[in-house]
Amino acid sequence: MWIIVVLALCGLAMAVPSEDRKLSDKATTLADRSTTLAFNLYHAMAKDKDMENILLSPVVVASSLGLVSLGGKAATASQAKAVLSADKLNDDYVHSGLSELLNEVSNSTARNVTWKIGNRLYGPASINFADDFVKNSKKHYNYEHSKINFRDKRSALKSINEWAAQTTDGKLPEVTKDVEKTDGALIVNAMFFKPHIKQPKWEDKLWFHHKMVDNRGFMVSRSYTVGVPMMHRTGLYNYYDDETEKLQVVEMPLAHKLSSMIFIMPNHVEPLERVEKLLNREQLKTWAGKMKKRSVAISLPKVVLEVSHDLQKHLAGLGLTEAIDKSKADLSKISGKKDLYLSNVFHAAALEWDTEGNPYDADIYGREEMRNPKLFYADHPFVFLIKDSKTNSILFIGRLVRPKGDKMRDEL
Ligand SMILES: *[C@@H]1O[C@H](CO)[C@@H](O)[C@H](O)[C@H]1NC(C)=O
Ligand SMILES: *[C@@H]1O[C@H](CO)[C@@H](O)[C@H](O)[C@H]1NC(C)=O
Repeated sequence: MWIIVVLALCGLAMAVPSEDRKLSDKATTLADRSTTLAFNLYHAMAKDKDMENILLSPVVVASSLGLVSLGGKAATASQAKAVLSADKLNDDYVHSGLSELLNEVSNSTARNVTWKIGNRLYGPASINFADDFVKNSKKHYNYEHSKINFRDKRSALKSINEWAAQTTDGKLPEVTKDVEKTDGALIVNAMFFKPHIKQPKWEDKLWFHHKMVDNRGFMVSRSYTVGVPMMHRTGLYNYYDDETEKLQVVEMPLAHKLSSMIFIMPNHVEPLERVEKLLNREQLKTWAGKMKKRSVAISLPKVVLEVSHDLQKHLAGLGLTEAIDKSKADLSKISGKKDLYLSNVFHAAALEWDTEGNPYDADIYGREEMRNPKLFYADHPFVFLIKDSKTNSILFIGRLVRPKGDKMRDEL
């Protein structure tokens, strides 16, 4: 009995450094609002017929909305808060809540993940950034500012993409190939996320190892398959086989277990629409309640998912209509004048699923608990989330529909 007690105490002791600092009410509230935004924005984007892969960081989008409300006045500012369901909260509460949330979830020391986030506001060469705005947007949202001259469009695009590459250690080489409207302000988020898993106990070594990778086909659709490296891992995971909805849900904890990746995949190749219709906060809670820890053999494409979205029209669909309208926008707290509107909101991220740095542990396969694993074979489109358990927010939400890879022979 005492062994169990000692283990439990060790677990507690290890958790202390990151658990001791409790999240404030402000940050907890804003985390909750950003989760609502996550589903709203995801659904708005999933409806877009031209959209394939999706990769969104709701907490980062939330801070961009915070930035718009910081720089805006009147309806321009209040709409940004409303999209975040924060219209009833006062400005200071919103800014400091979002700021605390972002600092907490992006703390790579506490979380042992690589999450590089670059945020920049580009303004036309003619504007002057107000000192107050520069100071506060840096303080709350870690935003940099830069003037950009689109008269030489090629070099303007080059400098945006170079900044993004630099910010992400080269993992995200391009935010955009073109900018159509060049007379406004641009918000650019450039991110790179990579989970690390290094756990001392065998049952916690749940990430993939490079010895367990081979080449397989990923079925984008019934008639289109691309070749991808596939990584395999058997371990004890939270798992639920939803027989009614014909889908599987599996959860892989990330280092320090402050967050986890949740994969939701239909049993067979099909357009994701059906599964996406189910996707909301309540359903996620229902699945979480039904998941049981058991042996699961997970196979996942070993890919870097690189996605860049221009969120402007999707945010407009959720109610951010004034900031993006040249004749109505009032972003005068940015420049001191009513001379600016928001022409683009680029949200670009690279997410790397890799095997690097994880110890190989052959003996786990001999263990009794590992017998008869359920198979979670991700060789067709699926939805995923990175959920943070400390703040109860969603760090990423997305779908993998078409991984990078060469077309393989047509399947029948
Ligand atoms: C990140 O987390 C570590 C360990 O919990 C803590 O000591 C440090 O102050 C945090 N850094 C920031 C910027 O919050
Ligand atoms: C995660 O932890 C490992 C092992 O302690 C360490 O080598 C690595 O640098 C850490 N990564 C980050 C991003 O903190």
